[in-house]
Amino acid sequence: MPPLNDALLQQLLAAAASARSHSHAPYSRYAVGAAVLDEQGRVHAGCNIENAAYPQGWCAETTALGAMVMAGGRQARAVLVMGPGPEVITPCGGCRQKLREFNSGDLLVIAADPAGIQAHWTLEQLLPASFGPGHLRF
Ligand code: THU
Repeated sequence: MPPLNDALLQQLLAAAASARSHSHAPYSRYAVGAAVLDEQGRVHAGCNIENAAYPQGWCAETTALGAMVMAGGRQARAVLVMGPGPEVITPCGGCRQKLREFNSGDLLVIAADPAGIQAHWTLEQLLPASFGPGHLRF
């Protein structure tokens, strides 16, 4: 695993698991928790929140990013996403773009399930040639 010490990893795992226990997913029954590590070393967590009007629901990563921004965080260093397994979870396209707003590419994206860590990538691997804040500085 690239630069993240074991204590931080355990902190992200615990925060994502706890957030996942709050998931509101009565339609898909697919509970997700996410934990974002910010530039100050703080962890912000969130769960997916579905809606009876299906398209209005949103992902755990989005909730966690909202918590980070509300706490004053402006850079994401790592995000751990925990799904139910057994298929390895991976952030949806919309969340990849939302994460991109707060990191230019070296963001570590870690996929987990209740049994532990299953995979990891950089955001650059998941969203190559991305559109970002730099494009609007023309
Ligand atoms: N979901 C997440 O919260 N994060 C992901 O990375 C993948 C999918 C949620 C959205 C929806 O509530 C449920 O999982 C099924 O798609």
